[in-house]
Amino acid sequence: MTAKKQLQGEVFYPSAEVVEKARLKDWEATAQWAAEDLEGFWASEAEELEWYKKWDQVLDDSKAPFYKWFVGAQTNIVHNAIDRHLKTWRRNKLALIWEGEPGDSRAISYHGLNREVNQFANILKAMGVGKGDRVTIYMGRIPEIMFAMLACAKLGAIHSVVYGGFSVDALQGRIDDSESKVVITADGGWMRGKIVELKQIVDEAVKHSPSVQTVIVVKRTGQEVYMETGRDYWYHDLAQLPIANGDCETEKLDAEDPLFILYTSGTTGTPKAILHTHGGYMVGTSTTLKYVFDLQDDDRWWCAADPGWITGHSYIVYAPLVLGATSFMYEGAPNYPYPDRWWKLIAKYGLSVFYTAPTAIRGLMRFGESWPNRHDLSSLRLLGSVGEPINPEAWKWYHRVIGGERCPIMDTWWQTETGNFMITPTPVVPLKPGSGTRPFFGQEAEILDDDGNLVADGEEGYMVLKHPWPAMLRTIYKNPDRYVEQYWSKYPGYYTTGDSAKRDSDGYFWIIGRVDDVIKVSGYRLGTAEIESALVSHPAVAEAAAIGLPHDVKGQAIHAYCILRAGVGAAPALADELIQHVSDHIGKIARPEEITFVDKLPKTRSGKIMRRLLKARALGLDEGDTSTLED
Ligand code: PRX
Repeated sequence: MTAKKQLQGEVFYPSAEVVEKARLKDWEATAQWAAEDLEGFWASEAEELEWYKKWDQVLDDSKAPFYKWFVGAQTNIVHNAIDRHLKTWRRNKLALIWEGEPGDSRAISYHGLNREVNQFANILKAMGVGKGDRVTIYMGRIPEIMFAMLACAKLGAIHSVVYGGFSVDALQGRIDDSESKVVITADGGWMRGKIVELKQIVDEAVKHSPSVQTVIVVKRTGQEVYMETGRDYWYHDLAQLPIANGDCETEKLDAEDPLFILYTSGTTGTPKAILHTHGGYMVGTSTTLKYVFDLQDDDRWWCAADPGWITGHSYIVYAPLVLGATSFMYEGAPNYPYPDRWWKLIAKYGLSVFYTAPTAIRGLMRFGESWPNRHDLSSLRLLGSVGEPINPEAWKWYHRVIGGERCPIMDTWWQTETGNFMITPTPVVPLKPGSGTRPFFGQEAEILDDDGNLVADGEEGYMVLKHPWPAMLRTIYKNPDRYVEQYWSKYPGYYTTGDSAKRDSDGYFWIIGRVDDVIKVSGYRLGTAEIESALVSHPAVAEAAAIGLPHDVKGQAIHAYCILRAGVGAAPALADELIQHVSDHIGKIARPEEITFVDKLPKTRSGKIMRRLLKARALGLDEGDTSTLED
């Protein structure tokens, strides 16, 4: 941005050096072009990629909100992520550098990646996986998760990656809902020096599965695991078979063919499967990564998320490969064996662009500056933040201690549903700590009140997006009505984000948080309904309510209120048991911080739990409008 205007508040302007290196120097000009010609902007980005057949129409909004992008085009994201690079010098460029928690490492070129993905795809094909079939992937952060995802995409199969930290119920629900034929997992994974028992959890989860025929197991830890004859196969055994050899043709797909589903928590009920497609997602994710993190051929990019979340899908797996970049992936915990593991990795591999979540920054900040200060972090040139609002204190620590005051921080606001960054700076945009600045090219956001009126600058309201974008979700898998209802019905014509936010007088957006029953714990998205249903599945609990309360490191922590069944005593040991119960069912990330036993829960006359009231009471805040309270 060529900011002539004086911006309000605390502002960090990009240095001459940053501007010099940035591929896009005039933010305003591109923003203006995209605002005037949305389709033209995206078409020109799409032109930079290869298509088997070009589109007849950029955007079809005739059946909005069921938008279609690059209508009539044929492609496959794998063609752009791998195949096209093989024809260039990038064939021998590193696609992925990986380090395991125990310290083992691998480096994989685009040529090597192609070989691995072909092998995986050949095996899946031999197992009967084809276009449109669903495959669940449940693994840790090892290169094979990437190979497996790309292999599915290559065949036109739809992957459903379930984060390796989820437990039995969460996994089972997602396998069953997606009716996956095949589950891909590993014998285990390394985390804080211990083994995560992935295969054991899969065994439990598929015990009664009506759809799963095959489980493919990648050897990671080497410990003994149960293998069911006729269902479970070691990946390395399959790889020895002649069927695994040779190239596997990349399936020519329609731009609108599904690429993956990814389950995420919503307002009510069970997690919903967000569906993304090949064409628009490929264009949107690669364009945003190119402009926002400005990846150049000499960069080494580290998105420290997990491939099991949208951040990992878009910015570990797909967009960096489409751009022909070199990515880094690390298997384990940031503070293992010592709190400087991440900083050590940056120095060891000379990583230049680093992207993580505020919760991780706050967690590592606690250990003090001496840990990062032991390492040479001068290879870094840009930093990023995602997943929750970053508090200015953490922003400044990140900027000063990790970024040496020379690396701008790209605070990117987006969602599983949006597929790519939506509110974000680029390196030349002046930054305000805690604000994601302004919407990306071709997008506008508004802040509305309950009735759909625009609120004044500086006032809080519901954040909505105004225009369709290529990487937007297409629907909720198997539930188009819920798609319309959830995202497009509150304010017709706008995409409802579910977040509250403010816009300041410079047009900068400040995200406050979710307005629905979603809790963000350490950046992980959890629904109150999931936690509550795990609690009531325990024989001692009659009713439960979960809320998120502020937490110094996690952003928010889960607090649960339980009504016990008649005759059950409210012992502290029971609270611990219930916390463990939730963890066993959903995963450690859903562990309540605290459980309070109560006799009653505040409800509306129609019987809905008033979580807002529980929250206000816990925080000692004004209870607001209680006229609908039952009692
Ligand atoms: O509340 C917003 C918050 O994360 C939500 C989306 O969560 P999920 O689908 O899991 O995707 C997270 C990674 C893209 C949003 O509705 N959120 C995400 N990024 C930011 C954020 N809140 C504030 N600032 C951000 N940069």
